[in-house]
Amino acid sequence: MHLLRLHRDGVAVVVDTSHGIPAIVHWGPDPGPLDGIEPLLDRGHPPGTLDMEPAATLVPTAGSGWPGRPGIEVSRGGVPVFPRFAEATCTATATDVRFESHDPAGLGLVGTLDLGEALEISLELTNESADDLVVHGLAPVIALPSTATEVLRFDGRWCHEFHPRRMPWPAGTHLLENRRGRTSHDTVPVVFTGPAGFDESTGVVHGIHVAWSGNHDVVLDRLADGRRVVRAGELLVPGEVVLGPGETYHAPRVVGAVGIGLTQCSQRFHTHVRALLPDRPRPVLLNTWEAVYFDHDLDRLRALADRAAQVGVERFVLDDGWFGGRRDDTAGLGDWWVSPAAHPDGLEPLISHVTGLGMEFGIWVEPEMVNPDSDLHRAHPDWVLGDAAVLGRNQLVLDLGIEECRAHLFGRLDRLLADHDIAFVKWDMNRDLAGAGSHRQTRALYRLLDDLRAAHPSVEIESCASGGGRADLEILRRTCRIWTSDCNDPVERQTIQRGFSHFLPPVVMGAHIGPPRAHTTGRTSRLAFRAATALFGHLGIEWNLLDASDRHLDALAAWIDLHKRLRPLLHGGDVVRLDRSDPDGVAHGVVSADRSEAVFAYSQLTAGLPGLAPPLVLRDLDPDRAYRVEHLAMPGEVLGLGLHQPAWLTSPTEATGRFLTTVGLELPVLFPESALLLHLTS
Ligand code: DGJ
Repeated sequence: MHLLRLHRDGVAVVVDTSHGIPAIVHWGPDPGPLDGIEPLLDRGHPPGTLDMEPAATLVPTAGSGWPGRPGIEVSRGGVPVFPRFAEATCTATATDVRFESHDPAGLGLVGTLDLGEALEISLELTNESADDLVVHGLAPVIALPSTATEVLRFDGRWCHEFHPRRMPWPAGTHLLENRRGRTSHDTVPVVFTGPAGFDESTGVVHGIHVAWSGNHDVVLDRLADGRRVVRAGELLVPGEVVLGPGETYHAPRVVGAVGIGLTQCSQRFHTHVRALLPDRPRPVLLNTWEAVYFDHDLDRLRALADRAAQVGVERFVLDDGWFGGRRDDTAGLGDWWVSPAAHPDGLEPLISHVTGLGMEFGIWVEPEMVNPDSDLHRAHPDWVLGDAAVLGRNQLVLDLGIEECRAHLFGRLDRLLADHDIAFVKWDMNRDLAGAGSHRQTRALYRLLDDLRAAHPSVEIESCASGGGRADLEILRRTCRIWTSDCNDPVERQTIQRGFSHFLPPVVMGAHIGPPRAHTTGRTSRLAFRAATALFGHLGIEWNLLDASDRHLDALAAWIDLHKRLRPLLHGGDVVRLDRSDPDGVAHGVVSADRSEAVFAYSQLTAGLPGLAPPLVLRDLDPDRAYRVEHLAMPGEVLGLGLHQPAWLTSPTEATGRFLTTVGLELPVLFPESALLLHLTS
């Protein structure tokens, strides 16, 4: 046994390199120096199986007798290849290890484990033979402790994203599989494991995410010998990746985080993601989609921009409908030139109006798609990817792997950005692929985005796929906002956003204040609840403000002002999700890194049986600090019908962090579908 210990900020990954490819022996709280402890980790081996137990290396192979899903599956000339990778060279620092190994079958494998706030694992495979190599799969296999007996994953659908599902870790193999060709709404590429009943603050919790925007699979293997591993990677359809001599396949990065409780695990994911983002405050935006849909009229859009500026919006985003023959969703997609029908004098009159009001201008595009009824499709029907008979929202997918097609799209988008003062692009993608693998398409998408970013480095991009269908850490290397969901209903959003926050931070979470009556659910909600729900994310407005009353506009301006004041805390602090015993409310907050300030929200979702919610017990505060606890009373806020409401609501009160995290504070009687905000300063 030869052990290496990567360690940082109280977390360690211990790997055994004596099997060639490193095997994770421990990933969790740092156990300290390892000198002389090898005998303690020397695993017994019961009879009745192979003479040597196959190690749970990062890439266990069928060639070594690994009984679970192997980390590598390849074939050559129709014959399976069973590599063994017995030898590897490893180079390590205190926080990373790189290994390289070659198999006589002509395979070169390179991998890295990099421990930052999160653990990043990369693998690449090179065909070192003169004959083609078919890659069926290459993904890291991560060994987890025997205490990881419960699994949390997320599924969903359009307007209902990031819904949590808990289950005991089943015996045998459990497969989470996404074949939609985009990250997907229903198989979110992240799993969390921990001891039975793990919650926000207890249990060693591991989160594992496949940073990839195409097909993926996550395999939970519970072997008969008791070992538990997660294999996370790209799902390849047969024959999709064939390596010619000297060619390399890069597996998607896998990003993991560990923490005591889910919240700490999420915080580590968040810090990792925040390091990828531009270092400037996220501008409050107004998106025109639900305000005007396809009905683009310059005077109306200018009036909307006036209202947006009046309430403090910083970026005005023109959504679908500005180009080609796009008067509804049946035509025009692919024709990326300004429609004279919608904008007779081009976009300039609107853009200069918006920028003249001191706002940035943003625009919607959906470059990967084409309507059959479009000039582009009429000119290039051969650019369609997959089965041209399968439509989704009246559209087909363009094959970005065709050089000419990608170059055409780059040219159109490059012109659009070069000719106009555009600071932001909402990049949409509204259908699954059909009849095609997603490997080439996803790599080509990344290349298109990379090329555009290189040509227009100051333009920020949002990732949207019918709402939150493309939320992953690889797209976030090229974008800085995720459109979380097309559902702006605050009741639905409470669950959607809480789910999202498990691995993605609020600073990338597009969260809009919609109109009083939500377009996607028909539910009517108070402005104060809509705003308190959206406040924590990358705030936006998606509401025809020309319909809003003066009272609502004033209140909206106050909310936007509050968001701007709290923005450094909301987007830079540590997210805290609170466990609650009552099923009728949810609570979460953000605490600054130095613990000097925090903001918490309690949302009453339904009317509780006791009539009064249990006290709000906070967490992650400095126990020895005195905090001033203040109710953030906002215009339009309504509490509930209480004969008496707690005194701290009207007179800010001081208490120590220790008190607030042990005893907590009493909550007022609240109406269902309302929220209470409190601000802590010290
Ligand atoms: C789907 C997106 O999720 C919406 O926000 C909007 O941009 C529409 N597409 C436009 O077609």
